[in-house]
Amino acid sequence: MSTIIENIKDLKTKRNAVILAHNYQRGDVQDIADFTGDSLGLSQQAAKTKADIIVFCGVHFMAETASILCPDKMVLLPDEHAGCPMANMITLRQLKIKKNEHPDAKVVCYVNSTAAIKAESDICCTSSNAMKIVSSIPKDQEILFIPDKSLGGYVSSKLNRPMILWEGYCPTHHRILSEHIISLKAKHPHAKIVVHPECTPDVIALADHVASTTGIAKYCKETDAKEFIIGTETGILHRLKKENPQKAFYAITLLADCSNMKLISLEKVLWSLEDLVYQVKVPDDIAAKARVAIQKMLDLS
Ligand code: 13P
Ligand code: SF4
Repeated sequence: MSTIIENIKDLKTKRNAVILAHNYQRGDVQDIADFTGDSLGLSQQAAKTKADIIVFCGVHFMAETASILCPDKMVLLPDEHAGCPMANMITLRQLKIKKNEHPDAKVVCYVNSTAAIKAESDICCTSSNAMKIVSSIPKDQEILFIPDKSLGGYVSSKLNRPMILWEGYCPTHHRILSEHIISLKAKHPHAKIVVHPECTPDVIALADHVASTTGIAKYCKETDAKEFIIGTETGILHRLKKENPQKAFYAITLLADCSNMKLISLEKVLWSLEDLVYQVKVPDDIAAKARVAIQKMLDLS
């Protein structure tokens, strides 16, 4: 295994590449990355990198976002099949129909969406800034929030702000059930319950803290508690345990495993750098429109 890691490092230097990994990636992939983070952190890193090549260890919409922000760089996704089921729960045709039904609505688009959908939206958001983005829109302005009904519903209830919600959701986070939490909490009564806003409302209702993946990592590091019940994709446990060896972390359910995120392996990262595959490039006309929505979000973040 060390040979693979050495080869990745050599090739990365030779090609002037940077490796960005999402918090849900396999542990060994997170460990070779130059930066591991949430969707917002990763797009901020992509926007400022001086590297010629970005190897994106995540899913397709993340690589697309990097390509939109860095049109002159080569963006590689080590497995071309690493998609996001939630991003595929809305099509351009469906969105256009909905926009016609609500012609005055501003479209707030969760970054877990395709470039074409972002291009038809007014502003993007991630799970770490959704509250801030929605709050930046005047109170009397109608909002269509796409595609995650869970994140949208969470923001709507926290801000006491009605929004039109799209019926999309994350299949991985919806496998986390409140009954799992209740039985774990009975075993670990002192543990803090920390969940991602892609979870269902009844799971969120039981949480001590709701945050993006990097927000979850920050909370677990900074809070005095010694035990945590974690309600998000299980890949994050690697980072949590590594950063807090003295604390205990319990996954609410091991079913919260995103098979798309786990398609990326060290071998595929190496092949990606060797063969320059799989290149993700958003067509210029779509990228130009999508960039406006993403940049508005970054300016507010
Ligand atoms: P964040 O890392 O931005 O919280 O996103 C979670 C997610 O589901 C990405 O696919
Ligand atoms: Fe998509 Fe959910 Fe997987 Fe994130 S965890 S990539 S939202 S399916």
